Amino acid sequence: MTDLEPAAMTVVRLDKKGDFAEWRAAARHLLAQHIPPHQVDWRGPDNDMSLFGDQLGAAPIRQEKAEGRAPTISLPRELVDMADHIICHRSADVPARLYRLFWRVQADRYLLGRKTDDDVHWARKMVKNISRDIHKMHAFVRFRHLGVGDDGRENYAAWFEPEHLTLRLGAPFFQRRFSGMNWAIITPDARAIWDGQRLVMGEGGQRDDVPDHDVVEQQWRAYYGAIFNPARVKISAMRSEMPKKYWHNLPEAQDIASLLAGAEQRVAMMQAAEHQTPNKRTEKWQKNAQAALADVLGGAGDGLDAPENLEQLGRSLDQCRRCSLHCAATQAVRGEGPVDAALMMVGEQPGDQEDLAGRPFVGPAGQLLTEMMAQNGLTRSDIYMTNAVKHFKFQPRGKMRLHQRPTAGEIDKCRWWLDLERQMVRPKFIITLGATALRGVLGPKGKLADLRGQVIPLSDGAVLFPTIHPSYLLRLPDKEKAAEERAMFAADLRRAAQHLAAAGVG
Ligand code: URA
Repeated sequence: MTDLEPAAMTVVRLDKKGDFAEWRAAARHLLAQHIPPHQVDWRGPDNDMSLFGDQLGAAPIRQEKAEGRAPTISLPRELVDMADHIICHRSADVPARLYRLFWRVQADRYLLGRKTDDDVHWARKMVKNISRDIHKMHAFVRFRHLGVGDDGRENYAAWFEPEHLTLRLGAPFFQRRFSGMNWAIITPDARAIWDGQRLVMGEGGQRDDVPDHDVVEQQWRAYYGAIFNPARVKISAMRSEMPKKYWHNLPEAQDIASLLAGAEQRVAMMQAAEHQTPNKRTEKWQKNAQAALADVLGGAGDGLDAPENLEQLGRSLDQCRRCSLHCAATQAVRGEGPVDAALMMVGEQPGDQEDLAGRPFVGPAGQLLTEMMAQNGLTRSDIYMTNAVKHFKFQPRGKMRLHQRPTAGEIDKCRWWLDLERQMVRPKFIITLGATALRGVLGPKGKLADLRGQVIPLSDGAVLFPTIHPSYLLRLPDKEKAAEERAMFAADLRRAAQHLAAAGVG
């Protein structure tokens, strides 16, 4: 070949879109043969016509791939995981751009760390898009009840239209969550079927494949109507959390327009009622929401009752989908302690160890807290210990799960559970540990820096003591500063213990 001759193009024909195994096998073959990205013409089932045509002496490699095992090429695990997501994106240039990344990483093992590199930036953005699409699927799939099958198991089906080809990655979540029933999720591109034993992927379908009404639908609507709080309506936030394109598959969305239309009137009524009886509004709202929640959970075949006590609340909590944190966490961590505790201690969220154990405050911060409580007049077994956010929020880093602070939105969503716990335990005193816990109790009203050390009366008659989170003490590198902060934290605990003793409950 002279310099003037064009290099031969290698045509890769992919049979399926979004099939990572197929793309990866082809990419490994290409890498093993040292074929650079600009000499590869990727074609999918929808773009069989190559940009260059076949006249450039293309040498399809599909046959080779089908015959032999893909050669072993060493690639960073992180890139493989990213590619597994990115391949689900619908953009036609994904196979080619991904291959360029795989090619470049062979020569530069640190490529992924170069955040300003165009290819790396593109890849990270694509992973984000796909993860968002999977989250939307987890939040917005609604199963229709089809009846009981020959095997005696309940059958459910859902129609869903994800933006990308994400069913393969999204379906295992439903397998974990709804393992006790048979279900199918049908999308235009693929379907996932779970029969209690195996999760199988198949061909896509049509909306008509799934009935669009059933009894569970009424329950979703009742639930949504009950938890709809007109005083908190923020239409833009609502749209971004529940984008309009998903509405036609959501039973509860049919009610949004009428709920919004009546919102102003309901707010006025609620404000008027609040002047006469401060807590009536919350009580009524909570009662409706509890009844509706019980309907939804019971209707989905779990046989759960309304959360009327802490035990039931714990079981309902396991089903919580109020925000996306449940997706990655092992389990919701419920509060723990006597139902009539005079003191409630509210932390931020379960940590790594709490997430695995299903119990609050058992990890390093919890151990330090328990020790310091005992030294300063507070007995852990007398106290109701809970968290503002019930699921562990983390970022995976290799084998580690690094703690991440919950957002204001996540704290506010989870307040629904904390409020129920407060109503059931009715503590006379509450200690909040850190800013998240403070927001969980007070809402966006106060800053920890301003309120720490104060004694704050709450509208339900309880008294609040805001202090720092013990994990802060564990993070301080300076020994002197750590000792100073520890002494202040101990003083905060002692002050609370003295108030309890003065009230005759310590
Ligand atoms: N930190 C918290 O805030 N809560 C726990 O349960 C554990 C650690």
